[in-house]
Amino acid sequence: MRLDDLYLWYLADPAKPRYVGALKLVSAGKGVSLHYGKDWLESGFALSEDLPLVDNEFLPPSRLATDAQRAVGAVDDARPDRWGEKVIRFVDKPKRLSLMEYLYYAGDDRFGALGVSTSASTYSPRAVSPLPRLDAVQQLSEVVAKIEASEPITRLEAKIIAGGGSPLGGAKPKALIDIHGEQWIIKFFDNQPVDTPVVEHATMTLAKRAGITVAETHVIRLVGANAIAVRRFDRAMGRRIHSICAGTAIRAATASGAEAELGYPELARILRRVGIIRDDTYQWDARELFRRMVFNILVDNTDDHEKNHSLLVVHPFANGRLKLAPAYDVLPTNSGQGYQEFICGVHGRDSTLENAMSQCNAFGLLPAEAAVEVAGIIAIVDVWKTHFAQAGVAERDIESLSERIDGEALLSQRTRFDQTRYRSQAAKRRKPSPFRRNSQ
Ligand SMILES: Nc1ncnc2c1ncn2[C@@H]1O[C@H](COP(=O)(O)OP(=O)(O)O)[C@@H](O)[C@H]1O
Ligand SMILES: [Mg+2]
Repeated sequence: MRLDDLYLWYLADPAKPRYVGALKLVSAGKGVSLHYGKDWLESGFALSEDLPLVDNEFLPPSRLATDAQRAVGAVDDARPDRWGEKVIRFVDKPKRLSLMEYLYYAGDDRFGALGVSTSASTYSPRAVSPLPRLDAVQQLSEVVAKIEASEPITRLEAKIIAGGGSPLGGAKPKALIDIHGEQWIIKFFDNQPVDTPVVEHATMTLAKRAGITVAETHVIRLVGANAIAVRRFDRAMGRRIHSICAGTAIRAATASGAEAELGYPELARILRRVGIIRDDTYQWDARELFRRMVFNILVDNTDDHEKNHSLLVVHPFANGRLKLAPAYDVLPTNSGQGYQEFICGVHGRDSTLENAMSQCNAFGLLPAEAAVEVAGIIAIVDVWKTHFAQAGVAERDIESLSERIDGEALLSQRTRFDQTRYRSQAAKRRKPSPFRRNSQ
């Protein structure tokens, strides 16, 4: 089957799919465009800021890097990434391998609330069997290991992974499973020098202690290796939540022709502009984003790129405000590279607290307030070893991770951070009123 025309659907209520528009392969086969349908133009919503409700074919940028493939705006979040693409190549084996095949074969359980169908009149996604349950995870892990090693799989094995292996993004081996009627992501051991599933669980729970909202995680003990189960945050009581990654939000908010500033301060500005209003403290999400940045720096999570932060779209038909999704994929990268993947401040991506503090105003924080947040995170990261041991990380892995987390570069960030320095700066910032002399 040649997939030259595909159709986008909206599945907030999976029982009532709504047609959104037509997808086409453009930019010499590298990009995918979207043209909203008539009904959606009348009563839908803009999937992302760069896809307003106008009767127009939205084209992906023409100046794409040679290996980059991109669908327009939020549509790009509906496609798989390196791991899902590998599963599609191994299990579905489509004749052509364009972004259209990847969009289609990702199936019905992709990120957010979008769906891809071969028809504009009925939602007909690629058909698959139900997702495996928890008791099939051992079997699933064996199929995943074969695909990871690029070994051929049998028809039965293909059936086990079909549906759950390809929908989501990311590079590491993973699959969706069903636990008591809810979807969870299982991430498997990927032959790293440390037991990454347990380390990820330990880091996520440490982040929670540091005041960060995290996706719920559990370690799944398997024969030979561990896995981690992560509860999906884009599903709630049978409904799907329209969601976009940070890169989509930032690109959509960037004037065309300008280069997107993929980083925390820019994401914070978006959250303060179109984020949700939480009671009296509208800057809550931006403040939490600041915490996440500081935490990622201190625990050596340098892999904090644009797809490792997501936003949930709240009331999309009303005003489409954005809410920071729970944190996920938070674990030490063990690279010691000294820079983050996301811009932190005036020193670009440098993994330093000084850099993190440098644009705290973008997060709606005075230096003194930001410094309190930093001090709080330091206090939690200081006890990481005990926490990791309690979370089940092996002594050997803790030792290995401590070379980075407690290595000179990062430990000195914690020990040398002087909160009082920012207190005095905050005071200095308050300039005397120019009218003071007159009023005396
Ligand atoms: N708890 C979750 N709920 C919904 N989507 C998620 C969740 N965790 C991750 N994702 C989505 O799946 C993608 C891959 O997950 P991630 O944990 O980042 O895997 P990897 O380690 O391979 O990068 C993410 O970029 C995000 O789009
Ligand atoms: Mg990831």
